[in-house]
Amino acid sequence: MFRNTKKSALFLQFVSLAVFVALVASLLSIPVAAATTLGAAAAQSGRYFGTAISNGKLGDSAYTTIAAREFNMVTPENEMKPDATEPNQNQFNFTAGDAVYNWAISHGMKVRGHTLAWHSQQPGWMQSMSGTTLRNAMINHINGVMAHYKGKLAYWDVVNEAFNEDGTRRNSNLQGTGNDWIEVAFKTARAADPSVKLCYNDYNIENATYAKTVAVKNMIQDFKNRGVPIDCVGLQTHFTGGSSLPSNFQTTLQNFAALGVDVALTEVDVTQASTTQYQGLTQACMNVSRCVGITVWGVRDSDSWRSSEAPLLFDGSGNKKAAYTSVINALNAAPPVGPTATPARTNTPAPSSNFLTNADMESGTTNWVVNGVGTLSSDTTQFHGGAHSVKITGRTSAWNGIGQNVAVSNFPTSGQNVTVSVWVRSQTGTPTAIATLRLTASTTTYVQLASAAVNSTGWTQLTATVPVSWSGTLTGVLFYVETAAGTDNIYIDDANLHR
Ligand code: G3I
Repeated sequence: MFRNTKKSALFLQFVSLAVFVALVASLLSIPVAAATTLGAAAAQSGRYFGTAISNGKLGDSAYTTIAAREFNMVTPENEMKPDATEPNQNQFNFTAGDAVYNWAISHGMKVRGHTLAWHSQQPGWMQSMSGTTLRNAMINHINGVMAHYKGKLAYWDVVNEAFNEDGTRRNSNLQGTGNDWIEVAFKTARAADPSVKLCYNDYNIENATYAKTVAVKNMIQDFKNRGVPIDCVGLQTHFTGGSSLPSNFQTTLQNFAALGVDVALTEVDVTQASTTQYQGLTQACMNVSRCVGITVWGVRDSDSWRSSEAPLLFDGSGNKKAAYTSVINALNAAPPVGPTATPARTNTPAPSSNFLTNADMESGTTNWVVNGVGTLSSDTTQFHGGAHSVKITGRTSAWNGIGQNVAVSNFPTSGQNVTVSVWVRSQTGTPTAIATLRLTASTTTYVQLASAAVNSTGWTQLTATVPVSWSGTLTGVLFYVETAAGTDNIYIDDANLHR
């Protein structure tokens, strides 16, 4: 769970105030005061702006001062990689990973885990493995690391850099265990921690027509078709060694998003920090609603793995570079979202195909039930659309939630996709909310439909299209929203579940 520190609460209050001020200002046609840090500017449009953080630099106050001020997402640069987390087989070490995690959380930031299965930075014992032994070691590694960080991370880069430039699979020891190693990694990861978003991450997949990009797109499409869990794709966006911002970058992001995954720029750095390339890559993300955030691969040029190319947003002395200005201007220009961004929104009637009734919560708690322990109420202080939401208080377990029984006749055959969208808000905390189906047949099956970190300053949409399977005769379907951990009071609104 993301701890609700004083600083994160202040940060969230600041963000919501900024959104409110921006909205009032826009309604009154007066200039909007632009956010003055990268994280706050990105938060205005519901996105994050992150950086890679290195444990070895947390004692450098110039480094931590900039990082704490500017960013709201952290990727440990090396500390959660296989060589760091399992230096000896089955002996896990989270000292460095925890240090970066704790620094991030104590500064109100979230964390992207990087990375679980990769041909590089494997511990020595793993490098010499092959076949079934390696496959089992990979599965054990994913389970061991994800158990430690269960419920704590926003994203995991499950598999990193598995393709060649020509679109074929990289000839690694992991590939040698069988072509299905990537999907096994994702299935293992989903079972290990259903609350975290699972990403495929790679470089040189920024050009929509490049063979490697097309291959990754095809793999994600295949995973979606076959129900292999995948939530996001990370485009590393290292523009170096002759590669630069392609003119079709936004198309690439849109193509991935159209497959039903979140998109993120995960390791951005640009040769000599070209302002036009930084502006263009930021703008492309702002133009794609499922582009959830941008992470630069380090704080100052001197912190970069390619420091001689001065590729980051701060120079070695910590000064903001011209590229910083082009990025923050593009972030500030993106349309704001948030609780006050759509005040005049009229309630859209739920589509007739919606399995849920009173899905807009405008008829009080009618048809909504408690899953487990808790008390439902119709709330008029918080609502995503219309004037009501449904709130649950008094939960005693994370799995307690707000539910609705769905007609079994809506699910005629096992294996069909259902699409869910539900808006969720916490009263005080920042839990990860999960939309789940409980299917009663010959056995009871729980299908995690969608999950996202939610907060108390705005509404967060949980949405996904997921295949739903059971065995035997289906006798009951319960849709409900719970959290991954904690017993926060939560609100839901504008729910839609359909085929
Ligand atoms: O910590 C040791 C230090 O004790 C030793 O004195 C020094 C001597 O070379 O090495 C230090 O470790 C280095 C480590 O970075 C920390 O600086 C490793 O040798 C070095 O290999 C390692 O490089 C990292 C690289 O991944 C390894 O593949 C970079 O920091 C890191 O930025 C880079 O990140 C990758 C992403 O994970 C995946 N995408 C590409 C990206 C850039 O290569």
